Amino acid sequence: MAEPIIIDCDPGVDDALALLLAFASPEFELLAVTTVGGNVAAAKTARNACLIREVAGRDDVPVYAGATRPLVRDAVEAGDFHGVEGLGAVPARTPARGAEAGDSQRAIVDLVMARPAGSVSLTVVGPMTNVAAAMASEPALAGRLKQVVAMGGARREGGNITASAEFNIFADPHAAAAVFASGVPIVCFGLDATHQVRATEAHIAAIEALGTPAGAMAAAMLRFSRQVERDVVRGTDAPLHDPCPIAWLLRPALFELKPCRIEVETTSPLTMGHTAVEFRSAQPNARWAVSADADGVFALLTERLA
Ligand code: BDR
Ligand code: CA
Repeated sequence: MAEPIIIDCDPGVDDALALLLAFASPEFELLAVTTVGGNVAAAKTARNACLIREVAGRDDVPVYAGATRPLVRDAVEAGDFHGVEGLGAVPARTPARGAEAGDSQRAIVDLVMARPAGSVSLTVVGPMTNVAAAMASEPALAGRLKQVVAMGGARREGGNITASAEFNIFADPHAAAAVFASGVPIVCFGLDATHQVRATEAHIAAIEALGTPAGAMAAAMLRFSRQVERDVVRGTDAPLHDPCPIAWLLRPALFELKPCRIEVETTSPLTMGHTAVEFRSAQPNARWAVSADADGVFALLTERLA
């Protein structure tokens, strides 16, 4: 039986790749894609999700637009890494069909509460604003979910937006703190794992050679990220963050997880958004990805984009 999931995201080139992977995977019953302001403003992330849905030919999946700003802090965006419109060098256009009426937070509550307890996985690959707001509006939500499968945080690797914070957690640390404190089981793919999954020229060439519309779009976005990695980070192969949680749902053996307790720093201006990941805690609230099989993740992505 297909696994019911919701994907909460802020496309974003790697969010777009995560969506293309999920849209092409029959193992999922994709209940909805919900969007949040993050990499680019909320109106653009919703439009981009609809655009990717169109390329994937998955009109059956509803898209709901969500939070336009973080719970407490001022908004931060990541246009340097995703381009002004959020899809790198892929030209943004208005898709034929837009987002549904209604917002992300309501959709998450309604869709999860309508399903049996412990059945729906909520995959979160952007700031956790929608999820925290949904949990605040429906106190039974955290207990109703099977799990939250998130991309966010950093431990061994250090941060990618400040010295110690990763973008998704930094962009709404108060929301992340609430979600980690909610009691929902969490599987977390931070930079320690996603920085192991880097797009080489050979990975991109294999996707480009597929000759499919989704493959062409994915290859263009990966090439854009590779250029950004050179220009902004002074590196070579760009990390592929957001497809990791989706890949884990499809093929858990691609990652090694360790139980831990994760708490989020919300008070210090210097370390705001830092994830304190404690493997020795007697009260674990999450599992943390410590390693990833990069070639396995790219093989899966390539297989599905075909
Ligand atoms: C995360 O931040 C965003 O820029 C990416 O889409 C990813 O979700 C990586 O730190
Ligand atoms: Ca993202």
